[in-house]
Parts: sequence; structure tokens; C-alpha cells
Amino acid sequence: APIDVKKICCIGAGYVGGPTCAVIALKCPHITVTIVDLNQSRIDAWNSDDFSLPIYEPGLVDVVKQARGRNLFFSTDVDKAILEADLIFVSVNTPTKKSGVGAGFAADLNYVELATRRIAAVATSNKIVVEKSTVPCRTAESMRTILESNSHGGARFDILSNPEFLAEGTAIKDLLSPDRVLIGSLQTGEGLDACQALANVYANWVPKERILTVGLWSSELSKLAANAMLAQRISSINALSAICEATGANIDEVSHAVGFDSRIGPKFLRASVGFGGSCFQKDILNLVYLSESLHLPEVAAYWRQVVDMNEYQKSRFSKTVVDTLFKTITGKHIAVLGFAFKADTGDTRESAAITLIRDFLSERAYVTIYDPKVEESQIWQDLSEACPNTPLETIKKYVTIVHNVIEACKDKEAVVIATEWKEFLEIDWQTVYDHMTKPAFVFDGRLLIDADKLRKIGFKVKVIGRGDSTQ
Ligand code: UDX
Ligand code: UDX
Ligand code: ADP
Repeated sequence: APIDVKKICCIGAGYVGGPTCAVIALKCPHITVTIVDLNQSRIDAWNSDDFSLPIYEPGLVDVVKQARGRNLFFSTDVDKAILEADLIFVSVNTPTKKSGVGAGFAADLNYVELATRRIAAVATSNKIVVEKSTVPCRTAESMRTILESNSHGGARFDILSNPEFLAEGTAIKDLLSPDRVLIGSLQTGEGLDACQALANVYANWVPKERILTVGLWSSELSKLAANAMLAQRISSINALSAICEATGANIDEVSHAVGFDSRIGPKFLRASVGFGGSCFQKDILNLVYLSESLHLPEVAAYWRQVVDMNEYQKSRFSKTVVDTLFKTITGKHIAVLGFAFKADTGDTRESAAITLIRDFLSERAYVTIYDPKVEESQIWQDLSEACPNTPLETIKKYVTIVHNVIEACKDKEAVVIATEWKEFLEIDWQTVYDHMTKPAFVFDGRLLIDADKLRKIGFKVKVIGRGDSTQ
């Protein structure tokens, strides 16, 4: 029979582990949830008196305020939390490998393995071990082998896969009312019991019909598949946006018309300067690597094209900026509005803005950046990494970071919108225009502005997925 989970340990207090287990604690006051991490400053931030948490998510502070100290705890004592728990989430980072076999594609499983070995070394009683981090298909198998070959004191381990589908910026909302919770287990008596034990935890707030239970490998693959298919929709609409620009069709109208087909649906069809974020590219490259390892080169090529199209979309946009500014931006001044990979997050991982700015810098243009949420130090770090052969001092000669839109656009010849921040909808474009060098250009990479209104003010406007000819 399934055990009644009373103590949960979560290894990894990052973007995934932190919010997920905080919500579990909120919704299950009868379960003690301890989130552990090796990173002391991260744990200190989670424990800070003024709730200056290490990650920004709307609503997260409220959840932590309600549960912390009641049944939610943050600690660096990994061993103690493992020892006491009946169920352990492994939510450590799985970045793309930077060197060795599969570099640039495969997931780096070192952190998962180290956490797994720690569990095996410490545990003296039965544990349900849940893989929460996004991992390649069949990682659970390796985890099981490691656990079983290092088990002692008669401890038994059941492995589950429970991928997280939350999106950044809406994490709390996604966790409170998920489209679905997916749990994969071995189809053995013990496996199914473990699965039921975790399902019972979620059943405290998630409707039963939304808790899907499947086999381990299906669960692992479904996470990669969901992200790959979401990214593929964006690459598909972005590919169409290039056709729109060349023909005078309007990508908004095309998306709208296509999305009305109930078989396709309206979401995730917004053309953009390219998708970013920590998951899409990483997971697709993972799928590409998996397909290649399975000797399925055609499958690998199919998915790789989704990432190639995204790279193309970014470089196509940079080229539009250069071409429109009379084929040279050397020494010109460009304002970039938005640096985060999407609105409502301070996260910049794989943000299209980084690629655009790198392209502008390689043309020796001057760039002024404004983002309402991203830390300055993060911007410098990202640009240094994007331009590995340019010293930071040189980058700083060309790049300025400012704190509002008007300041960003003053005396610039062009404005580039890279992130769809709500506050950009409220920009007083007349004032911006008055302060810009003429002719003043606006490049909208997020379908955010009212192009006709801006043209009336006097701007020259280019919008992704829209031809110049107004019909
Ligand atoms: C299609 C479009 O659905 C329709 O909107 C358009 O006007 C004409 O083209 P049709 O060709 O009649 O219609 O058939 P459809 O039901 O879309 O199926 C097309 C093919 O896809 C079939 O061979 C079908 O077996 C296959 N299919 C469909 C799958 O293999 N898997 C699916 O999930 C759906
Ligand atoms: C994604 C998945 O949505 C989530 O389910 C998974 O768990 C993690 O990866 P996230 O990366 O946080 O979440 O952001 P998401 O909202 O999916 O956006 C990803 C990128 O796609 C952003 O750069 C966004 O601007 C872009 N995007 C999204 C578009 O360009 N057009 C769209 O229509 C939707
Ligand atoms: P994600 O976006 O997948 O949540 P993050 O990088 O935000 O990834 O968080 C992962 C966290 O896991 C980091 O804070 C890292 O310090 C922590 N971590 C990695 N390995 C271990 C380990 N063996 N034990 C405890 N914490 C770990």
C-alpha cells in the first residue's frame, strides 16, 4: 500500500525546487518540507527576514510568508534532510555540457549523480526519490542503479519521474492550478505504490483527473516533448513571419486565423525576435542528442531545425536593423528596450536581447539598455560571455545601462524592443520622438506597438512579421 508522506526533502533551492516545494508546503500543512542547497548565500536569501528571496516570481513571497517556519524550512544541512524524509525531490541544475562527449547538446548530469550518490550514502530507511529536474530519457534508470548498488541498512528506493511544467513569471499560478501533474513510475507493485503516494500529495489541491500517471520513460520523454513542441510552434510562426515581411501579409492576422482552428489553438503563436529561456533550447538540443544516440539522424535533424530557425530569426532581425539604418550602424546609437528573455522575469538565460546586442556590438554600434527587472551585474556578465574575445572595459565603452525608457531613447537613432514588458505599452512615443536623432527608427521585435500611430508621429517603423506596404 502507498505510504503516507509526512516529510519531504527537496535537493536544490533554485527556480524549480524553490517555488514547487514552497507551494507543496503551503497546500499540505501536515507535511514538513525542507528545501536544501549547497549554496549558503542562496539558502540565506530564502531565510532572509525581509523576504528578499533569491528568485523573483509574482506571488512567491506570499507563499513563503505563509509557510516558512510553519512546515517549510530552508537549510544547507543536506544529509539531515535526506535522513528524515520519506520522499526526496531532486531539483538540481542540469545545464548543457560545455565540454566532453556531447558538449553543446547533452545535459550535464553530474549534479544529478552527485545528489543521487549523496542520498544513497546517507539514507538508512526507505525513500521515494523523485526526479524533478529535466533530464534525458532513461536517467531514472541510472539513478536507480546508483541507489541500489550503494544502498545500506536495508533501505529501499523507489524512483519516480515528476517533471515540472511551470513557466517563469507565472510559476505560482502554474503550480496552484496546473494543466496537469505528470508522474512516471515503474509498473511494478512498489513502483505503483510510490506513484500513488506522490499523487496523494498533489491531490491536496490538484483535481484527480489532472494527475496523470504513466511509465517512467514516457514521463521523462513527455517533458522534453512538451518543450520541443512549444518551441516548434514559435519557430513555425517565426518562419511564417519572414514570409509575411516579404509579401505584405500580417503575422498577427495569420496567427489569429490559424489559431482559430480548434485543432491548433490560439496559444503560443506570437511571432517574436526569437524564443529564449533556460529550457527550450536546452531541451531540444537534448532531444537532438538523444535521437542521435539512438541512431535516428532524421529525427535529430527535424528537431535541430527548430533551434536553427530561432537563430535565424534573431540574426534576421539584427540584419533588418542594419539594413534599415542605411546599411551601417557603426558609431550609431541604438536603444534596446528589454533584456530579460520574456516579460515578468529578471531571468536573462538565452535571451534574444543578448544575441541582438552582440550583433550590434560586432558592428561597433553604441547600445543603451533599459530593462525594468534585470540587474546591471547580470547584463555585464551576459555580454561578457556573449563576447568572449572582448574585454569588459571595451564592452563598457560601447554599452550603457539606464533606468528608464526616455533616458534610453534620448539622442538615439533607433529603438529596438526586445522584451514585451507591459510598461512598454504605456510609452509616451511623442516625447521619445522629440528627443531622438532624426530620422527616428523603431524596430518592434515583440508585436507590441501601434505602428500606424508611431508613423503618424514621424517614426520609421519595422515590426516583425509585417511588410512595409500598408494595405
Ligand atoms: C485536411 C485538413 O484537416 C483540412 O482542414 C483541410 O481543409 C484539408 O486538409 P483532410 O486531408 O481531409 O483535411 O484530412 P485530415 O483529417 O486533416 O487528415 C490528413 C491526414 O493526416 C490523414 O492521412 C490522417 O490520417 C492524418 N492524421 C491526422 C494523422 O496521421 N494523425 C493525426 O493526429 C491526424
Ligand atoms: C517554458 C515552458 O513554457 C514551461 O512549461 C517549461 O516548464 C519551461 O520552459 P519558460 O521558459 O519560463 O517556460 O517561458 P515561456 O513562457 O514558455 O517562454 C519561452 C520563450 O518563448 C520566451 O522567450 C517567450 O518570449 C517566447 N515566446 C513564447 C514567443 O516568442 N512567442 C510565444 O507565443 C510564446
Ligand atoms: P533549476 O532552474 O533547474 O531549478 P537552478 O540552477 O536554479 O536550476 O537551481 C539548482 C540548485 O541546485 C542550485 O542552487 C544548486 O546550488 C543546487 N545543487 C546542485 N547540486 C546540489 C547538491 N548535490 N546538493 C544540494 N544542492 C545542489
